[in-house]
Amino acid sequence: MSKSITILGIESSCDDTSAAVLKDGKILANIVANQSIHELYGGVVPELASRAHQQNIIPVVDQAIKRAGIKKEDIDAIAFTRGPGLMGSLLVGTSFSKAFALGLNIPLIEVNHMQGHILAHFIEEGIEKPSFPFLCLTVSGGHTQIVLVNDYFDMQILGETIDDAAGEAFDKAAKIMGLPYPGGPLIDKYAKEGNPNAYKFSKPQIPDLNFSFSGLKTGFMNFINTEKSKNENFVNEHLADICASIQSTIIDILLAKLESASERTNIKQIAIAGGVSANSELRIKLNKRQKELDWKVFIPKFEYCTDNAAMIAITGYYKFLKNDFSNQTAAPIARYDLNSKANEL
Ligand code: KG4
Ligand code: ZN
Repeated sequence: MSKSITILGIESSCDDTSAAVLKDGKILANIVANQSIHELYGGVVPELASRAHQQNIIPVVDQAIKRAGIKKEDIDAIAFTRGPGLMGSLLVGTSFSKAFALGLNIPLIEVNHMQGHILAHFIEEGIEKPSFPFLCLTVSGGHTQIVLVNDYFDMQILGETIDDAAGEAFDKAAKIMGLPYPGGPLIDKYAKEGNPNAYKFSKPQIPDLNFSFSGLKTGFMNFINTEKSKNENFVNEHLADICASIQSTIIDILLAKLESASERTNIKQIAIAGGVSANSELRIKLNKRQKELDWKVFIPKFEYCTDNAAMIAITGYYKFLKNDFSNQTAAPIARYDLNSKANEL
């Protein structure tokens, strides 16, 4: 039997510091340190994020190696997120990875974070994986994309947001209502008791498969301000209905574009990635589409949907198999397009 391959994955692109150990496609450990400091500010503060990464990175890696039950000498390569993301945050993971790889005298593998979100579907979990080609809707606080996935490293963006991401729309709506960050899970929770048709918000008219959420945010803010000027307790008194209405507007915008993408490509294998894939209405409506439109829907385990290093390690594993290594000169790339080759940037 050929030698097994152990990859250490490092993720630090936004506000989660994560390290994972992957052996032959299976996750042995996936440690994520969240940064609660941002709750106070209603969004991620880049300067604070990089400082917290700096504090967290060594304990997180140490814990991942211990939890995996390996020794650092067992690691065959280090896969790290080179971008896209916040420059200061990326610098911490990149610098750490380079130094550790140098110390261990093992190769480095750079990973595009967006590719990582998609390839999280290939972590060995004993569940069915999508087969190529499939469509992936990546929806999180930083991203909203529909990607045609032809192969592990042959991906084409069919549509993406021209302004805010879907998770950002959730978080900003929550902030307008006075809820803490991140507001997406809270809106999801309160929406369960509410009527999604209580209030109507106008949906953006964006051509093709692209998205826009900034107009919705402005419309929502004007609506709340107008209602609060009449009744200052409006939000508290109608929280569930407001949450259900804004949530169903966001989810319907996502699903309408996903349906168009499926019709245009005639692909019915639909994968979801990113933190917003935890949303219960999205999951319920996808299940309905599965029956009505004959879709086959793939949603990874939640810990592999939100930002995590397991997805970076699995992408690194596939790159390792094709000898696609990086080197010590690799610098972070804040705006790293899914289709671009790093050496062209
Ligand atoms: O993938 P992720 O952990 O980090 C980013 O790359 O952004 O996604 C976090 C985003 C946040 O905007 C959060 O509000 C949203 O995912 N989110 C949700 C839910 N759980 C997390 N949005 C709606 N409903 C949820 N249940
Ligand atoms: Zn992400």
